Amino acid sequence: MGHLAGSYVGLLTTRRVLLVEDDDMVREALGTVLHRAGHFVLPVASAADAMDALSLVPFDMVLSDVVLPHGSGFDVAAHARRVRPGLPVVLMSSFVAEDLVTAPTHAADAFLRKPVMPGQILELITGLTTGVRAEVAKARSIAPPAHSRLYTATDTVRGLLHLISMRDTYTLEHSRRVRRLTNRLARAIGLPDEQVKEISLAAWVHDVGKIAVPGSVLHKTGPLTPDEMVLMRGHAVAGAAILASLGMPPQIVNTVRHHHERYDGDRTCRYHGYPAGLAGDEIPLSARILTVVDAFDAMTTPRCYRTPVSVKDALREVQDLAGMHFDPNVARVFLEMMSV
Ligand SMILES: [Fe+2]
Repeated sequence: MGHLAGSYVGLLTTRRVLLVEDDDMVREALGTVLHRAGHFVLPVASAADAMDALSLVPFDMVLSDVVLPHGSGFDVAAHARRVRPGLPVVLMSSFVAEDLVTAPTHAADAFLRKPVMPGQILELITGLTTGVRAEVAKARSIAPPAHSRLYTATDTVRGLLHLISMRDTYTLEHSRRVRRLTNRLARAIGLPDEQVKEISLAAWVHDVGKIAVPGSVLHKTGPLTPDEMVLMRGHAVAGAAILASLGMPPQIVNTVRHHHERYDGDRTCRYHGYPAGLAGDEIPLSARILTVVDAFDAMTTPRCYRTPVSVKDALREVQDLAGMHFDPNVARVFLEMMSV
């Protein structure tokens, strides 16, 4: 093993690895090993998140624990086989029978017994993602189905999400949650299916413009200066511009452009709406819906510079700001939906 690992030094190229591990310390340690070796790593902590991520990002390999919340490593492997045939999957467990280590079954390409040695993983990544097998897997996973148009809005969104994930893991996960909740809210409001689909796509990519925000601002842990605030707020216009240049429908572009407007149009307060300072019905309904969900998720998610508020407190905040920051009718349906 050691000799093989050495012989691959210099051949390493960046691979996109989905790391599924619910133990924070193990996930962090393995992520660091892969990251330092030059690989792109998306770490997730549950089988459900892994399956979501597999639908979004064209990974080169999956490295998964077997015992996970919301499913198991075998579920992740089976899902990976379904959505990306040929994608190499490595399963890790403290309880791996000897025959699985020496002769992996169809469930995975390899089994590793924990604790896993960094050299073992790096060697497997190179071995399983190099050569004809990897080329076939990649071609299968990336090529659009023959019957589809070359581009669909969903394909474009997937590409953008890949881009986001390279830059900022928080934004990727936030976008996924916001998409789910926005979809529910749009349905609860009674929008027709086509509009629900559009607003869900917009919710998925609503922060894509953060690609244009300098890393020093995007990842800053302290409060932003007024100049930095301007750069950060530029993401709404930048996102709309990116989507427009890709030929996305105007409804989606405008939803993204206006997802930070304030319902009361107040331009004097510190948290005024942007970019256009629109008010009331001037703001597209889809953007008013997205604003509520976006704010709710931001409030309830821990960030390095802020502790999250409870769901109860976040819902009270939505109620308090109805008619000011939020469309009161949208806020009312949201509160009803969340209290069920
Ligand atoms: Fe945003």
